[in-house]
Amino acid sequence: MSVVPADFETATVRFGSPQHKRLLAQFFIDTHREYDPERIDWPALSAEELHRLTGLPFWQEAVATENVTSNTVTAAAALESDPQLQRAIALQGFEEQRHARLLAALTAHYRIPIEFPAPYAPRDLEDDFLFAGFGECFDSFFAFGLFALARDSGFFPAALVEVFEPVMEEEVRHILFFVNWIKVRRAELPWWRRPAFRLRCGWIILKQVASRAQTARSLGGGARESSENFTLTAHQDIGPPVTLHGLLETCLRENDRRMGQYDARLVRPRLVPAIARALYRLLPARL
Ligand SMILES: [Fe+2]
Ligand SMILES: [Fe+2]
Repeated sequence: MSVVPADFETATVRFGSPQHKRLLAQFFIDTHREYDPERIDWPALSAEELHRLTGLPFWQEAVATENVTSNTVTAAAALESDPQLQRAIALQGFEEQRHARLLAALTAHYRIPIEFPAPYAPRDLEDDFLFAGFGECFDSFFAFGLFALARDSGFFPAALVEVFEPVMEEEVRHILFFVNWIKVRRAELPWWRRPAFRLRCGWIILKQVASRAQTARSLGGGARESSENFTLTAHQDIGPPVTLHGLLETCLRENDRRMGQYDARLVRPRLVPAIARALYRLLPARL
């Protein structure tokens, strides 16, 4: 017996409907890729390439972020009563743990000194998942552009850049899953609890925007933000100089390209691309 409902192939789905839930879980599970970070054949680097890699300022922050995200997402599977969505979130947790393993393997191989924090223990399953998810919507958007700049600049060997391509693709799937899951979650609440849920999401987004705005200001003042929001400052380290305008253009293009590969019936992350598009239009090209 087919698990696909008769109306599954329709052009649109109602967000939060059983069809939307099935489509969401199925998209995520079907696009999961197998790879083993412990078996990666790390490319040999020249002294200069190694110096560039070890000099990147964000390894410690990347390890800390993956520690929080991986433990948050893994725990968040318990939020779901739908078995397939629960499986999809658990798989996402596995992928985040694999990012942490990949970072551990890379920093060990190239001898980048890192302190590994104690495993993060989520305080509130839903709040932490929402915070991590909205944070990923910001960070991944910029990571897509930074990755393209690193890939195209030739600052790092193509073989090393390629190791991170699956990570980029997983982040696309994570934020695509997250924004659709928000729709499902809200639709399942009784109507009188939905406004509070919206407000809570809005508050968390505001906290994330404020944190990024602070970084953008410090960029404008020439100061370097060494720990938080490293995706906003990393363009200074991964290739030849690029303007903020150029970075935004690359991020928007890459976001569209990567999102375009997935089922058009799923809702796309809209807020961060909309902010980036507005900034792109407002900023002069020389900035
Ligand atoms: Fe990750
Ligand atoms: Fe992720």
